[in-house]
Amino acid sequence: MRRTVRAALEEAAVQIGRVDARVLACHLLGTGRAWLAANPMHVLTESQDARYDLLVAQRVMGHPVAYLVGTREFYGRDFEVGPAVLIPRPETETLVEAALARLGPAGEVLDLGTGSGALAVTLACERPGATVHAGDASGEALAIARANAARHGAGIAFAHGSWYEPFAGRRFDLVVANPPYVAAGDRHLAEGDLRFEPREALTDGSADGLDSLRAIVAGAPEHLKSGGWLLVEHGYDQAGACRALLGAAGLADLVSIPDLAGIPRVAGGRRE
Ligand SMILES: C[S@@+](CC[C@H](N)C(=O)[O-])C[C@H]1O[C@@H](n2cnc3c(N)ncnc32)[C@H](O)[C@@H]1O
Repeated sequence: MRRTVRAALEEAAVQIGRVDARVLACHLLGTGRAWLAANPMHVLTESQDARYDLLVAQRVMGHPVAYLVGTREFYGRDFEVGPAVLIPRPETETLVEAALARLGPAGEVLDLGTGSGALAVTLACERPGATVHAGDASGEALAIARANAARHGAGIAFAHGSWYEPFAGRRFDLVVANPPYVAAGDRHLAEGDLRFEPREALTDGSADGLDSLRAIVAGAPEHLKSGGWLLVEHGYDQAGACRALLGAAGLADLVSIPDLAGIPRVAGGRRE
């Protein structure tokens, strides 16, 4: 027998909790929460019923909700996501705020390791006069970033390659990066959403998780204009190491910025 919305939600809530049950039902039916609440006796079609069970089963197996529904909100905008890209995190909004505080109306920005394009697209939308470049080593990620740029009407110059390699000889007012920084043996890689995200977006395989940050910080002086800023996101316990890297690269006015939980998650410095 086909279920009502209420019956399907109640069965799913036992397995995956009420919030995820509602999010998946909204996605399946193309509705919002208000419609679900107002139509509990709506009967699912046979196909909807079966597809809802499949979504719930995938969630039970641990598949991230963002991949199941295909989008994740970041800084007030919806971004297409899929298994080729990291799911944008709320803590990365700290990097957006730090970047906007230092980016003039017509600045030239580079986003290294753009993934879904969350940072590049957000900065382009928030600073329509800025020129935004973005790179990634993953061609699949760049395809999603391009789709997100088109979705939000952001003109971004994308390039495929490792860190600064596609931007040789170019200098920017601001370089931002949220690189892979999880240490190779970190147990979190085998837990939660991280099990389903691209490994190369999470870790570069180095024992301390810092190799990508080392490369990005070391390359910054020759890709920043005079007065330009480098801002990077890092792990909860990497603030000291990042400060040392920024200092060793000769950057000035070093900053360490906490996320909403009060944990330092963004480090930066300015080329004099
Ligand atoms: C942590 S994800 C960040 C994605 C996005 N910027 C965000 O904040 O949601 C890191 C990204 O760096 C990319 N990446 C890893 N190694 C790279 C390299 N050597 N050169 C360029 N991009 C790289 C990965 O493909 C991934 O998209």
